[in-house]
Amino acid sequence: MDHSVPESAGHVPSDSYHESGTVEAWNERYLTRGMVWGTEPNQFLAAFAAGLTPCRVLDLGCGQGRNSVWLAGKNHQVTGLDLSPVAIEQARQLAKDHQVKVDFDTVDLVREWNPPPEAFDLIILSYLQLPPEDRQLVHRKAVEALAPGGTIWLIAHHSDNISMGVGGPPYPEVLFNENRLAADFSGLEIRRNEKVFRQVETENGETKAAHDVCLEARKPL
Ligand SMILES: C[S@@+](CC[C@H](N)C(=O)[O-])C[C@H]1O[C@@H](n2cnc3c(N)ncnc32)[C@H](O)[C@@H]1O
Repeated sequence: MDHSVPESAGHVPSDSYHESGTVEAWNERYLTRGMVWGTEPNQFLAAFAAGLTPCRVLDLGCGQGRNSVWLAGKNHQVTGLDLSPVAIEQARQLAKDHQVKVDFDTVDLVREWNPPPEAFDLIILSYLQLPPEDRQLVHRKAVEALAPGGTIWLIAHHSDNISMGVGGPPYPEVLFNENRLAADFSGLEIRRNEKVFRQVETENGETKAAHDVCLEARKPL
């Protein structure tokens, strides 16, 4: 079981994604709620990356750095980017606590980021939930930044999570599913694109399954 807080824990109730996805809202969440998703890596990422040869990794929407720091501890050369300067400061502190080096930076991936062409061997996106046009743009940029032969690895809340799961943003437009991912990454060789379940303990002490979608896709040589 995943005993970490549900991935929803950082979401401030608001009427729309538009309100909850601003830099101010993310900063507020990170300032007031501690390590919102804990300091351990996402369980599916840990399983995927367990045996990987060290490579150049980019963590898009890295938050407080739990995945970046874990990957750096496995000798990868990691860059982590996030909209929230508060999250980036906390991520830098986490890297310091773990005595690893990660190149963290604050950037809006939709409005500001210019992807360096073919610069990374592995790009991870962990619960970077954006509305459709922003999501598609960031996914296109991620493909540009990926080296030939490199892999995009993504985990996100599934659109079924609202009705069947637990946690995650309550806004259908920012949820993912296999069809959306297959379309976004149609130029890549898709090696995995499926629903996965995460057992989480809710605030009431119940155990429930969160519905996620996991993608692994390789850029052709
Ligand atoms: C649910 S959190 C996930 C954090 C981290 N990937 C993890 O799994 O612990 C989503 C993150 O995406 C970031 N984010 C949202 N919109 C963004 C944007 N336009 N550019 C960069 N980061 C963004 C938020 O600041 C937040 O840290």
